[in-house]
Amino acid sequence: MRIHAAVLRAGDGPFVVEQVDIADPGPGQVLVRIAAVGFCHTDVLPRDKGFPAQPPVIAGHEGAGVVEALGPGVTEPPVGSHVLLSFDHCGACENCLDGHPAYCRSFVQRNLTGTGIVSGGQPVTDAEGRPVASRWFGQSSFATHALVDVHNTVAVDPDLPLELLAPLGCGIQTGAGSILLALGVHAGARVVVFGAGGVGLSAVMAARIAGAATVVAVDLHENRLDLAQQLGATHVLLGSGDDVPRQLRKITEGGADYALDTTGVPEVIRDGVDSLRARGTIGLVGAQSRDLVLGPAALATGRNVRGILEGDAVPRRFLPQLIELWRQGRFPFDRLVRIYPLSEINTAERDAASGVTIKPVLLPGS
Ligand SMILES: NC(=O)c1ccc[n+]([C@@H]2O[C@H](COP(=O)([O-])OP(=O)(O)OC[C@H]3O[C@@H](n4cnc5c(N)ncnc54)[C@H](O)[C@@H]3O)[C@@H](O)[C@H]2O)c1
Ligand SMILES: [Zn+2]
Ligand SMILES: [Zn+2]
Repeated sequence: MRIHAAVLRAGDGPFVVEQVDIADPGPGQVLVRIAAVGFCHTDVLPRDKGFPAQPPVIAGHEGAGVVEALGPGVTEPPVGSHVLLSFDHCGACENCLDGHPAYCRSFVQRNLTGTGIVSGGQPVTDAEGRPVASRWFGQSSFATHALVDVHNTVAVDPDLPLELLAPLGCGIQTGAGSILLALGVHAGARVVVFGAGGVGLSAVMAARIAGAATVVAVDLHENRLDLAQQLGATHVLLGSGDDVPRQLRKITEGGADYALDTTGVPEVIRDGVDSLRARGTIGLVGAQSRDLVLGPAALATGRNVRGILEGDAVPRRFLPQLIELWRQGRFPFDRLVRIYPLSEINTAERDAASGVTIKPVLLPGS
C-alpha cells in the first residue's frame, strides 16, 4: 500500500515527507491509520552517529489512530478500534511477566534500533524500492499509516480526541509514571523536577496528584517555569542561577525526598543528587550523552540514583488511568500540546528545541 511518511534521510538533514510503500500486516501486527502523533525528544536520537537506529528511518513513537487491518491470527484490537500506541515489548520475558515491560529483555532491539525484530526485511520501502527502517518503537508513526505490534496498542473510547491523547504513549507516561509508579512519591513529599519540558511538566502534575507538599520545577526557560507554576509547582527555580543545590535544600527544608532529572545533563544530575536529603532518590529519564561523575561522598547518606524507562508503566493499565485523571481536570496535559500538520515536522522539531513548543503533535492527514 502507498502511504506518506516523514523520513529522516541523514543525521544532519531535515525530515522529508515522501511516498513510500508499506507491507500488509504480518503475524502479531495491525495496520493503523495514524490520526495524530506526538513528537518526543527521543525521535531525534537517530541523528546521533553512535545511536542504534540510523537513517534512513521513519521515527515517531507516540502514535494514535484507527485500526484498519489485522495480521494473520490477530483478533484484537478489532478493525475500527481507536488506539494509542506506546513502546513495544515481548510480553513473555521475566520483566514483562513481572509487570515491568519497559525493562523487557528485547526493549532496545524492539524500540531503539529502528529495524526491530523482524524476519524478511523492513516493511517499508521508498520510491526506488530501498528499505527504510520502519520498526521504531514497533510503530514508526510519523506517517499516514503504521504497522504496529499488537503489544503496543492501547484501545481507547472512540469519543476521545486522538490529537490530544497521542503523546500519552511516551513522554507524558514517562513523566507521570516516574513519579507515581517508579519513584512512588508519597503524600507530603518534597519533590524536585529538573527540566520543564513535556516529561518534566507531566511529572510536576503527577507529583501534585500524589499529594506532594513541595514541588519545585527547575528549567532554563522562564515561560516553561510559568507554566510549571500554573500546573502545580509550588516553587520554580532558574537552573542558570548560583548554587542550585543550596537553593533547593533551602526550599525543601533540608533536601528533596525525590528528584527527577529530565535534562540528561550530567552537571544537572550531580546537582540533583546534592539536593537530596538522606535516603532521597533521584530518577533519571533524560537521554544522557556524557558520563555522569559523582563526588566520593555523594551517595554516602543512603541516597539512591535510579534509571527509569517509560515511567515503569504498563501502558494498558496506566494510560486509561491518566485519561480518567485528565477527564476529571486533575491532569491537564493537553495544555502542553501544540498541533502541526506532518508537513511542518521540521518546524515542530525547531520549536521543541528552542522551547517555544512543549509537546508538538503532528497530524499526518492534514
Ligand atoms: N527514559 C525514558 O523512557 C524517556 C521517555 C521519554 C523521553 N525521554 C527523554 O527525556 C528527556 C526529556 O524529554 P522532553 O520531551 O521533556 O524534552 P524537552 O527538551 O522538552 O525538556 C527538557 C527540558 O530540560 C531543560 N534543561 C536543559 N538543560 C537544563 C539545565 N542545565 N538546567 C535546567 N533545565 C535544563 C530544557 O530547557 C527543557 O525545558 C529527553 O532527553 C528524552 O529523550 C526519556
Ligand atoms: Zn519482554
Ligand atoms: Zn519518547
